[in-house]
Amino acid sequence: MNHFLDIHTTDAADLRHMIDHAQGMKQARLGRPRGAPDDEQPLAGHMVALIFEKPSTRTRVSFDVGVRQMGGETMVLSGQDMQLGHGETIGDTARVLSRYVDLIMIRTFDETVLQEMAECASVPVINGLTDRSHPCQIMADMMTFEERRGPIKGKKVVWVGDGNNVFASFLHAAEQFDFSLTFSGPQQLDPDRDYVDRAREKGVDFTIQRDPWRAVEGADLIVADTWVSMHDAQSTRERRHNLLRAYQVNDDLMAAAGDEALFMHCLPAHRGEEVTSSVMDGPQSVVFDEAENRLHAQKAIMRWCLGV
Ligand code: CP
Ligand code: NVA
Repeated sequence: MNHFLDIHTTDAADLRHMIDHAQGMKQARLGRPRGAPDDEQPLAGHMVALIFEKPSTRTRVSFDVGVRQMGGETMVLSGQDMQLGHGETIGDTARVLSRYVDLIMIRTFDETVLQEMAECASVPVINGLTDRSHPCQIMADMMTFEERRGPIKGKKVVWVGDGNNVFASFLHAAEQFDFSLTFSGPQQLDPDRDYVDRAREKGVDFTIQRDPWRAVEGADLIVADTWVSMHDAQSTRERRHNLLRAYQVNDDLMAAAGDEALFMHCLPAHRGEEVTSSVMDGPQSVVFDEAENRLHAQKAIMRWCLGV
């Protein structure tokens, strides 16, 4: 049994296996109706709990569909509707759920909730996003880059904007997949210090370049995300917009990177804020491939967790 909690805490060879497995499963389904079962049914007889303490479109639907394609069943639970939201401890919730279900995916706020769930559950636990990381998204992003451009090893990835949870998982991925990562955003919104220190200790080719125009030179991939994440107080919205306005990904910034650079965004996007519609819908954007690949990547993650 394996938990999938973060990219930097998962073995690099296992991550590589999951990406390749995901691509194989994607290819095997080409031309099939979305709802058709896979030829292999490794989750037959399995029940998966999907717990959400924050909103979700992609994570919720892609996990649900993925489990069903592999023959399993899901139960989607809102944290607020559970006793979890009314004082029952995370540990007790984990122990109880482990008596009913075979796998738990949780999207939550504080990462200690995820960690306690994993410590107390006797079934695998998957991180469906916390305030600190979003590993399932970045597994889909690695898969998406490689299906367009081949191995990501040695490529230049540039993150433009807030040093948030999704950025953190890119930094973890830079360590495991061996690509160069540049952060371009205002100092006030720098990534978490402990993650940066770890990356430097591990010898990750990580750079901070405040000027987005210089940052994107020679980029193979440019990535943006919302300026206000779900865990950010709405009262910080104006300040964040003021700090990040100079970091919008638009046609001029993409032109500075060159025609070969891909554009990614985990979605949901705020068109006209962190990215323009012309970039989102333009020839370099692979945002909807990323969304699709959540499905395939997570199927491989679940199979790895369960060893099936
Ligand atoms: N990218 C992502 O995780 O989307 P949702 O918030 O819709 O799940
Ligand atoms: N950084 C965003 C990602 C949403 C998928 C958030 O945490 O709200």
